[in-house]
Amino acid sequence: MLTVSAPGKVILFGEHAVVYGEPALVGTIERRVRVGVRRLDEKVINVYSDAIGTWESFTFEDLHETNGAFRYVKRAVSIAFEEVGEKTGLELRISSELPPASGLGSSAAVSVATLKAVLTLLGKDVSNSRLAALAHCVELEVQGSASPTDTAAATYGGVLFVLPGKGIERLNVEEELPLIVGNTQKERSTKLLVAKVRRLKESLPEVVDPVIRNIGKVTREARRCLEKGELTHLGELMNINHGLLEALGVSTPELSRLVYIARSAGAEGAKLTGAGGGGCMLAFARERYDSVLEALSKESQALQASITFEGVRVEGGER
Ligand code: PMV
Repeated sequence: MLTVSAPGKVILFGEHAVVYGEPALVGTIERRVRVGVRRLDEKVINVYSDAIGTWESFTFEDLHETNGAFRYVKRAVSIAFEEVGEKTGLELRISSELPPASGLGSSAAVSVATLKAVLTLLGKDVSNSRLAALAHCVELEVQGSASPTDTAAATYGGVLFVLPGKGIERLNVEEELPLIVGNTQKERSTKLLVAKVRRLKESLPEVVDPVIRNIGKVTREARRCLEKGELTHLGELMNINHGLLEALGVSTPELSRLVYIARSAGAEGAKLTGAGGGGCMLAFARERYDSVLEALSKESQALQASITFEGVRVEGGER
């Protein structure tokens, strides 16, 4: 079985402000989705996912659907077939180290890894920019709207600087970034949280606009620190970013509690990551990594999530 993996992501800085033209910094984490694929003689697509725990079988026609548990997989296989100009029966096995629907980019990682696996199996070599564009199409079709950030991150890996309207830049970061994610396991809707911030911004523009601009300043400063390898201020910038996100009303008691638990256990910085309202927080700890991990594990689903600089990769196996 040919296996391909792609990483998940965390938003390091700039969530919500990025909706209003400010930059965001996104990093891929060493938590991967793996997709194994092999040809079948019958004209069916059989898919198994560890997370779902059952097999599902699809016809070629079913691949047009954008619903169901395997919606990203179905669209990714279909788009890969179109790209190659060939259809074949397939068996796909998916395993994930990422909790689903928690803002850690699992759907983008599934889309990228599935596309790359099927394209490679069928002998089609595509550039990373083509792969990221195809995976973005998968997310657009399934979700209706989607930023290209998560699929670009899962493809290229590393730390990406996202400037809306101007594109995505991969930064040259050489330092290790030891991170821990604390997952509240509370579901949230990115759409509703973006709408909540919009309402606040519209009702109090004089107050809220500077908060958003300051998040942009924090993100630009964080970029400078990362590129220069000056990590001493990175934690402080994360703490400031969390404060500004609290001001926008997107933190929750659970998220802020985890943020303070991480700081008390020795994290240099901690903030919520992603849309807020539940989901995950992020702690940066170089010296006291183990104590922060232990403290967060007691109170949440804690994941070691250091930044990886490697994006999608063919793990091996027979074609
Ligand atoms: O939690 P996520 O990965 O859905 O992140 C949302 C990030 C926002 O800035 C809140 C929205 C967006 O589209 O950028």
